[in-house]
Amino acid sequence: MTFKTISTTAFTDQKPGTSGLRKKVTVFAQEHYAENFIQSIFDSLEDFQGKTLVLGGDGRYLNRKVIQSTIKIAAANGFGRILVGLGGITSTPAASNLIRKNKAFGGIILSASHNAGGPQGDFGIKFNISNGGPAPEKLTEAMFANSKTITSYKIADCADIDIDTLGSHQIGDTVVEIIDPVKDYAALMESLFDFQAIRTLLQSGFTMRFDAMHAVTGPYATEIFENRLGAKAGSVFNAVPLEDFGGHHPDPNIVYAHELYEELMSANAPDFGAASDGDGDRNLIIGKGMYIAPSDSLAVLAANAHLAPAYSKGIAGIARSMPTSCAADRVAEKLKIGMHETPTGWKFFGNLLDTGLVTICGEESAGTGSDHVREKDGLWAVLLWLNILAVRKQSVAEIMHEHWQTYGRNYYSRHDYEEVASDGANALMDALRAKLPDLKGKTVQGMVVEAADDFAYHDPVDHSVSKHQGIRILFAGGSRLVVRLSGTGTAGATIRIYLERYEADSSKHDLETQAALTPLIAAAAELTEITHYTGREKPSVIT
Ligand code: G1P
Ligand code: ZN
Repeated sequence: MTFKTISTTAFTDQKPGTSGLRKKVTVFAQEHYAENFIQSIFDSLEDFQGKTLVLGGDGRYLNRKVIQSTIKIAAANGFGRILVGLGGITSTPAASNLIRKNKAFGGIILSASHNAGGPQGDFGIKFNISNGGPAPEKLTEAMFANSKTITSYKIADCADIDIDTLGSHQIGDTVVEIIDPVKDYAALMESLFDFQAIRTLLQSGFTMRFDAMHAVTGPYATEIFENRLGAKAGSVFNAVPLEDFGGHHPDPNIVYAHELYEELMSANAPDFGAASDGDGDRNLIIGKGMYIAPSDSLAVLAANAHLAPAYSKGIAGIARSMPTSCAADRVAEKLKIGMHETPTGWKFFGNLLDTGLVTICGEESAGTGSDHVREKDGLWAVLLWLNILAVRKQSVAEIMHEHWQTYGRNYYSRHDYEEVASDGANALMDALRAKLPDLKGKTVQGMVVEAADDFAYHDPVDHSVSKHQGIRILFAGGSRLVVRLSGTGTAGATIRIYLERYEADSSKHDLETQAALTPLIAAAAELTEITHYTGREKPSVIT
């Protein structure tokens, strides 16, 4: 086996964002672009010689090509064993599980998550460490630094590996194993939940639909829901992973999973609907006639987790990203367990999970998960809901309404202004930041500002500090506004405005969400001056 050293020129824009390096396919298609970044990842790591690397992706356009170059670069850099998901496809939570189960050094996941795919869509590369979770900021900063000075990368000079057949291959001293990524993941799920109770539920006439959005979860969902749990054949739809997700955004929200939403709101709706995203870490939950906001889903799952075998002894604590609604905080208070507020992005949950401070984590962006892996996990959330439904023998709507009666309701919505000019977006953030010191005590749209800051996170485990994680404006009575710039967008800037209103009075729990948030929407317009800075009158996506 010969290993070649290829001379290259550094790119200046390989800065990982909220979740790895994410760019347009056209950017990744430049000669050496992906190879440079993969070598930069390995140059940031120590002592991995002879160890195991897990490799998978969400199957999007470029996946197969970059899987091949990653295998060859990893072999040339001295990894001992590379575990590759069949067809180069592995969901993000399944990859996290494989890293943990095989005591791997880490893993590379090729994904742009919920972003559109295909030649005009997005692609991404991220590295996960040995706990199965995304690389911490210190490491992603080192990768970026290396990517700016790289002059060459090492690669094996060999034919492509057959990734479509299970089996073992040798590149020099490196063993490349093509493995079934579904098997271990399905077994993990079976160890956490009461599959017999869910099977009984599904046999009792309870109906479900799962939209795999032509993304990675199709094979996993078919195996788990239809083969193992006995859901009717066809319950899982859009089940075949496609390189362009059938031309859609594989983002499980009511905008992009519209077909599912319509079905659940129709007269003959099934009892339960769910969806997952491009790489399988996000989830959408809709009951018959009842959409569940992700922040509410986190709160319900935390409050009821003890009904599933894996959490029967109770949960240690809950963590949520800062913009996620405070609904879960009320559950933590009642259960007398710890509550942690972290910056956006799953990587901040790793330390809390590793040290047992929390068991369940979630983000408003349709991400929930637990200490079973170190990523958010779409199918896990769906299965926990099913387990809870099987035990409580109530509908999704009944469970949600009872929850609000007990804890009060946190009305919540996110307004995204996508692809705005970066200069305008930065100017808006600067201007808002400048207002913060004077906001306390002021009345905005009839609401009194109790506190306002630029969120900084002090990690209680490694004591690292992450600053400028989003602007928070907290009003008396539990309402909030949060404003931050996206770290995953690939064109211009995306401004996210998060709106939240707390309502304890159960006679006011059935308002339409946007109507309930009217004063907050007006306060956001006034404080951010968004139309002035962006020229936009309305958000591009409301979730
Ligand atoms: C978005 C979500 C965030 C999530 C991330 C990766 O990041 O807001 O919660 O962790 O995608 O799925 P953002 O674009 O806001 O930086
Ligand atoms: Zn994702």
